[in-house]
Amino acid sequence: MRAAGVRESAGQVELLDLPDPHSPGPDEVLIEVEAAGVGNWDDIVRTGVWNVGPTPPMALGVEVAGTVIAIGSQVTGLRQGDEVLGHPLPLRDQGCWAERVVVDAGLVVRKPLGVSWEVAAAFPVPALTAKQVLAESLKLAEGETLLVHGAGGTTGGLIVQLAALRGARVIATAGPSSVARVAKAGAAEVVDYHDSGWPDRVRELTGGAGVDAAVNAVRGGSADTILAVQEGGRMATITGDPPAADRGISVADVYVRPDATQLAELCALLGDGRLTLSVGSALPLAEAATALERAIAGANGGPVVLQVKPGRLSEFVKSGLER
Ligand SMILES: NC(=O)c1ccc[n+]([C@@H]2O[C@H](COP(=O)([O-])OP(=O)(O)OC[C@H]3O[C@@H](n4cnc5c(N)ncnc54)[C@H](OP(=O)(O)O)[C@@H]3O)[C@@H](O)[C@H]2O)c1
Repeated sequence: MRAAGVRESAGQVELLDLPDPHSPGPDEVLIEVEAAGVGNWDDIVRTGVWNVGPTPPMALGVEVAGTVIAIGSQVTGLRQGDEVLGHPLPLRDQGCWAERVVVDAGLVVRKPLGVSWEVAAAFPVPALTAKQVLAESLKLAEGETLLVHGAGGTTGGLIVQLAALRGARVIATAGPSSVARVAKAGAAEVVDYHDSGWPDRVRELTGGAGVDAAVNAVRGGSADTILAVQEGGRMATITGDPPAADRGISVADVYVRPDATQLAELCALLGDGRLTLSVGSALPLAEAATALERAIAGANGGPVVLQVKPGRLSEFVKSGLER
């Protein structure tokens, strides 16, 4: 089958001809992939720093959207023909940048009706991260004030939306071209991060004390983020850069994990329009290297996806990039 990935650890991303996945085991399903998500985290897999299961030569990709075409003997709740999405780690055979992938059936959920394959493919990692950071790490309560640093990004934008849905007052940082989108996502105030004194602006917006809780979604952005948090407050970072302890503020260093129950809840919100996501660019499997470069550079304007099934590009152009 056609796939995109690396022949050796830290190798260049290229098209690969890989053996078909094994037939699904008792708890597995085989998915015909329509689209697969691309994030800068795929580069951490490429370089061998994040072990997601297989070893090179391997297809990359940890987010999948596609159709179930074969099913294991003990799988309940899914049938052949179901349209699904997921973040199916650890991978059972190969990554998701491939024509077919076999996964743990317990880690995929049904794609909401009316949501495009591209949006479905880009949704699992950022949405699960947003949920886990707010509900588990920060335990954000209604009425609290939350800072989201890096709200112009895909994950930052979903954190804003989910926090607003939880009834928090959201203060966000974003660049000028993202202000309107971040406000629409639910931020009550948006501060331009290009102003080096932005943490002071955020504190002023809270009357001087600082926010109850904050999420850093900018590489290297934690040290600034903590400056805007009140004494004894809470902070989480999703970029692996927890700052030194300061003023009794608790700090969580958060890494996404697969959770089908959470993903199904998030899909319900996506399906009824309470969460939205717009894809920035969609490329064919053969352009996986460019797609990854784009994601690493910062998915300005929305996440990057690979259209795996031939013929998808024309359908996609017709139907547009929104959910
Ligand atoms: N730990 C985990 O499990 C986990 C999960 C998901 C993501 N992440 C990480 O979280 C980070 C953000 O992810 P993402 O999906 O939101 O990325 P993204 O979509 O690529 O974010 C790009 C956006 O970040 C904003 N940005 C860039 N530099 C900034 C700065 N100095 N201050 C504030 N905003 C800045 C820009 O927004 P403007 O348009 O506003 O300029 C840009 O459009 C990435 O490093 C990603 O790897 C980690």
